[in-house]
Amino acid sequence: MSKVFQYSYINNKIGKTAEAKVSVMCKALQYGLGCFTGIRGNWNKQNKNLYLFRLDDHYKRVKESAKILGMKLNYSYPRFQKILIDLAKKNNIKEDIYIRPTLYSASTALTPRFDNQKDDLAVYMISLKEYFNTENGLNVCVSSWRRFDDDQFSVKAKITGAYANSALAKTEAVQNGYDEAVFLNRDGKVCEASGANIFGIKDNIVYTPPLGANILNGITRKTLIELFENELGLEVHEELIDRSMLYTFDELFFSGTAAKVAWIRSVDKRKIGTGKIGKNTIKIKNIFERASTGSLDGYNKWLTPVY
Ligand SMILES: Cc1ncc(COP(=O)(O)O)c(C=O)c1O
Repeated sequence: MSKVFQYSYINNKIGKTAEAKVSVMCKALQYGLGCFTGIRGNWNKQNKNLYLFRLDDHYKRVKESAKILGMKLNYSYPRFQKILIDLAKKNNIKEDIYIRPTLYSASTALTPRFDNQKDDLAVYMISLKEYFNTENGLNVCVSSWRRFDDDQFSVKAKITGAYANSALAKTEAVQNGYDEAVFLNRDGKVCEASGANIFGIKDNIVYTPPLGANILNGITRKTLIELFENELGLEVHEELIDRSMLYTFDELFFSGTAAKVAWIRSVDKRKIGTGKIGKNTIKIKNIFERASTGSLDGYNKWLTPVY
């Protein structure tokens, strides 16, 4: 279990995490009405600073999620930024962390609707090194659960309640002995994992499903596309991927804020490439690590220093 930091933000103030509570009646609990993001804070030992990664993009995604749902995020970017910085300072953080801001419906009225004027922002912080244990690579399966379509339930909005779909796939995968599940979408095309995007590499060309394939617009995905092109000079094709293509990639990995770059050893018991981490995956993992900790020239634009 990750260490939970002592202070959180809720009801417009910083207070003890143990006292940051919501009503049993609230719509966030009863109906899963809310949207969220997950942000990394990366500790740089040399600079003795904590860097929040692509904070502005995370803010934009929450703002857009709220817009899609008809919720209200009554926070400007500078205010959002200040809350996270103040909270990190209050928690005296000097290690790698994961930050979870959630815009949730605090309304206790019975009807499930989003336009209820009682939307509140809550933020907590935990320590987080690795989400996946990637020492031996991940053994994954294609889920028997499909990703829902955007005309049923927005994937783009990162809706709290939508993670029941992720939980079904993840639970099934783990109970069947796998580390993670890969969703196909309604059209049978490769979509994403329960909480990460997916990339494949074949003959030194990088492939990842396009935004229209029902995937979350991952901030790590966007970051890696830029790094693959600019730092490794590799072509990235955002195109539809068939299930059987998964089996024949030379390299395959998940990307995400929690997942970082997590290499996949097998899919449905078929070994990917040599069964070892691929050469381009190692390179992009290192470059990403450096960019997100303030150790790669030219990419400090993505970092918000706390101290
Ligand atoms: C379903 C899903 N897809 C993809 C991602 C990766 O997105 P990001 O890189 O913005 O963390 C996440 C994690 O937030 C996720 O939950």
